Amino acid sequence: MVIPTSFFISVLLLFAINPITEAGTHRKVVVSKLSHLDEEANALILSGWWSNQHNISNRCSWPGIHCNNAGSITEITSPPRKNYDSSLAKQGRSTGIDFSVFLNLVHLDLSEMGLYGFPKGLSSLNKLKFLNLSHNKLKDEPGSPSSLANLTQLLVLDISYNFIGGQIPNEFSMLERLVTLDLSSNLFSGTIPLIFSHMSNLIYMNLSSNQLTGDLTATTYANLTKLENLDLSQNGFSGLIPQEIGNLTNLLTLDLSLNNLVGPIPHQIGYLNRLTSLHLNSNSINGSIPSSLGLLTQLEVLTIKNNEVGGSIPSELENLVHLKVLDLSYNEILGVIPKWISNLTQLDDIRLSGNQICGYIPSTILVHISHVDLSTNKLIGSIPFQIGNLSYLDVSYNNLAGPIPEQIGYSNRLTFLHLDSNCFTGSIPSSIGLLTEMIMLTMGHNKINGSIPIEIDHLLHLGALDLSTNRLSGVIPSGLFVHLTFVDLSTNNLSGSIPSLIGKSVNHLDLSYNNLSGNIPEGIDSVQFYNLECNPFLNGDYHNCQSENLNNGHDKSLSTLGLVLIIVASILVSFGSIGIGICVLFARHRSRRLKSKAAKHGDLFSIWEYDGKIAFEDIVEATEDFDIRYCIGTGAYGSVYKAELPSGKTIALKKLHKTESENPSFYKSFCKEVEVLTEIRHRNIIRLYGYCLHNRCMFLVYEYLERGSLFCNLANEIEAQELNWSKRVNIIKGTSYALAYMHHHCTPPIVHRDITTSNILLNSELDACVSDFGTARLLDTDSSNLTILVGTYGYVAPELAYTINVTTKCDVYSFGVVALETMMGHHPGEFISRLSKPSTQNLMVKDVLDSRIPLPILEKDLQDVVLVMTLALACLSSDPKSRPSMEDVANDFLASNSPIHFSFSDVSIYQLMNQEIYVIGKN
Ligand SMILES: *[C@@H]1O[C@H](CO)[C@@H](O)[C@H](O)[C@H]1NC(C)=O
Ligand SMILES: *[C@@H]1O[C@H](CO)[C@@H](O)[C@H](O)[C@H]1NC(C)=O
Ligand SMILES: *[C@@H]1O[C@H](CO)[C@@H](O)[C@H](O)[C@H]1NC(C)=O
Ligand SMILES: *[C@@H]1O[C@H](CO)[C@@H](O)[C@H](O)[C@H]1NC(C)=O
Ligand SMILES: *[C@@H]1O[C@H](CO)[C@@H](O)[C@H](O)[C@H]1NC(C)=O
Ligand SMILES: *[C@@H]1O[C@H](CO)[C@@H](O)[C@H](O)[C@H]1NC(C)=O
Ligand SMILES: *[C@@H]1O[C@H](CO)[C@@H](O)[C@H](O)[C@H]1NC(C)=O
Repeated sequence: MVIPTSFFISVLLLFAINPITEAGTHRKVVVSKLSHLDEEANALILSGWWSNQHNISNRCSWPGIHCNNAGSITEITSPPRKNYDSSLAKQGRSTGIDFSVFLNLVHLDLSEMGLYGFPKGLSSLNKLKFLNLSHNKLKDEPGSPSSLANLTQLLVLDISYNFIGGQIPNEFSMLERLVTLDLSSNLFSGTIPLIFSHMSNLIYMNLSSNQLTGDLTATTYANLTKLENLDLSQNGFSGLIPQEIGNLTNLLTLDLSLNNLVGPIPHQIGYLNRLTSLHLNSNSINGSIPSSLGLLTQLEVLTIKNNEVGGSIPSELENLVHLKVLDLSYNEILGVIPKWISNLTQLDDIRLSGNQICGYIPSTILVHISHVDLSTNKLIGSIPFQIGNLSYLDVSYNNLAGPIPEQIGYSNRLTFLHLDSNCFTGSIPSSIGLLTEMIMLTMGHNKINGSIPIEIDHLLHLGALDLSTNRLSGVIPSGLFVHLTFVDLSTNNLSGSIPSLIGKSVNHLDLSYNNLSGNIPEGIDSVQFYNLECNPFLNGDYHNCQSENLNNGHDKSLSTLGLVLIIVASILVSFGSIGIGICVLFARHRSRRLKSKAAKHGDLFSIWEYDGKIAFEDIVEATEDFDIRYCIGTGAYGSVYKAELPSGKTIALKKLHKTESENPSFYKSFCKEVEVLTEIRHRNIIRLYGYCLHNRCMFLVYEYLERGSLFCNLANEIEAQELNWSKRVNIIKGTSYALAYMHHHCTPPIVHRDITTSNILLNSELDACVSDFGTARLLDTDSSNLTILVGTYGYVAPELAYTINVTTKCDVYSFGVVALETMMGHHPGEFISRLSKPSTQNLMVKDVLDSRIPLPILEKDLQDVVLVMTLALACLSSDPKSRPSMEDVANDFLASNSPIHFSFSDVSIYQLMNQEIYVIGKN
């Protein structure tokens, strides 16, 4: 679209008249020879930015404009954005103004103006000292940004948050006076050019969030001795951290995180004695923490998270008396938590999770520090009772014991408390009721006894409560369900009736394996996931459990698993050589009991009790010897049949044909699936009822899920209509809960490795169930997790193209694909491959959603859809380290309830990729 030239001319005339007539000159002269002041005035009008100003003579006092004494404009800062939508920028052009008319311009700030192209005429502004074009949509058009090289007076150049790609132009070497250079959040690629060595006046340099690669060679910045802030994070830099970094002795902040740097931290970093913050997160740095870091006495923030750093925490760090944040999590740190940590009086945030730290928690560490994460280590002893003003405490997955100190309740800012998977004993102190800010409370898998204190009712913000697998008894406090969304009280010894759930927001409720009695409250149907199994006195069909010692669930499940594994192992040995058949069918629950039965049919070896009796012959009968009519699908490792048993129960059978079952890799996957599914039990993971090894065939027996795969449901026009936004969001949430459980609550963690929409099955309520564990892998922390590539094209994480190291982050990627596919209605392959391109990022979310169903309108749906899309995009990050963990994802779903503060139709993919609406993984 072009605005007619006549329009411009008339505008020019209109505004040229005023000053000229004042000066008494004839009108004809005006048009042919405007004074440069008039040209400036015209340019301002043309921009459309000041359309609410009517007196052009008064322009030097318009907002954002400064003039010199002669009335020529020297400064333009953030013109009013009022008219921004109708401006030329919207039409995909830069502003119409030719900036070369502003001969005296010194300061130009056009940040956040929605510019699509570099402003015209910039390169003539030879007095310009300050240029801010950040937060626009600039691209690397030919000639720009190298045209900026003419601005040799420039002191400040900020072109961050644009879509500028290509090499950093060599012409920048002309900008020798530059003090501040911000190129961050663009698409610059290639290596850092040598030119920076000429910019010896630089104080601030930010190249973060680009696609820069190559080594950080010393020559690049050896001359930058005035540098105070250096940010090279979120690129693809590789190689060692050069020792010469120690020459930049004026540095105050240094950020090298999220790159591919290797090798040790050079001890020369200790020369940077003015440093206040040092970030080395998410690289592959190894070696130990150099004691020279103790020389950085001004340091306030030190983060080395997600590396391979070993050794112990050096005692020299005791000198870092200004330290506020220390994050060494997910490394290989050994030794104990030093006692002197408590002497760092400024320290407010310490994260040591995911290391090999042993010994006791120092007795005064919880006094001053408010955010403490010591989870997944080898700590022993108990929680110190000297507790100050904690806001976050995670000591889960350690070997801690003893009681939960009553003092914890006096820490009234506490919002997250995680004590899971330790050996805590005693009862839950009633002081817990004082923690009125609490959002998430988890104490599962301990040996906690007594009753749940009624004071827990006071926790009005509590969203998630997991007290599962303890020895709790008594009744469930009646006010418990008021605000919770996630409740897991399974495997305790709770009694009494279930308080009414009506009007409550519970969406995940597990009270299984207790001694609850009475009626099921009416509101239960509004609960998305609930499990009440094995409460023998509850009215309804919840008697289904073996009469075992329920107080022992944790140990029990482990030993049962051991038993099953022995059986699987023995099958491995005997299979093929002896022609006997083995059928193993187990009850639907964690507590299984081996019943050695005299086999009814000669070919049954043993049977796990399952809803009465079931035998190989029953299955043959039910499927008319695996007639094709009963076949409901064919997967990678066999065909799936639907069978109705004599008892009326419908099951699904995954059968491997004999030829397949003799193939060692199929056979391995069969055993893998049994091994994995035997161990896990989760509402969103398919239940394995049993398996059968028989000389005629081998098969797995599953629960039958009526609605088949998510893939088929999305592909079918009618079923896709039925999958409205809230159902789709629930499917994604359910999948995330299943994966979070496998990754973070199973020891060792389980990686599925083949998450696709075909492997997510739906039950009649359209809840998701993750299935097909034939390729799953137990992440053995003691050996490397190298393996051949498996998975499905289009869902496999990109790093598996060049590494064979399987991590949970591979599943996170596949989950991202599945989530997008569910929202878009089709496989997002093309969309993903174009994600780094600005054209894709400029897309609006509403335009990528499945168009077969109406756009979301309910507030809850809007919130959820935007959250799902944000999380999915984060999961698709090509750097596995910057993907959120599945636990982050699940927690974000559980915690999401913030009111809408965006206009849905204006939300772009770009905003979601930058998490401008939801910031994920808050903790
Ligand atoms: C426009 O601004 C000039 C300079 O400040 C002033 O002298 C003049 O009176 C203003 N005109 C109107 C119409 O307000
Ligand atoms: C440029 O503008 C952005 C947005 O207004 C601002 O955040 C940033 O600090 C500015 N850059 C400089 C160097 O002043
Ligand atoms: C830089 O300025 C010179 C003279 O001032 C001019 O000839 C040249 O075209 C300018 N370069 C660019 C890229 O605008
Ligand atoms: C560098 O830029 C990124 C955004 O691209 C910003 O998050 C970061 O804080 C900046 N670093 C410094 C040291 O200012
Ligand atoms: C450092 O700067 C000086 C003077 O600007 C220059 O002569 C020298 O070549 C630069 N060093 C490097 C390594 O580029
Ligand atoms: C950097 O520091 C080392 C000492 O660590 C010194 O030998 C070297 O000359 C310095 N390099 C520059 C370019 O100043
Ligand atoms: C902590 O500081 C006090 C007083 O400065 C000192 O006596 C004590 O030894 C320090 N504790 C440790 C463990 O270093």
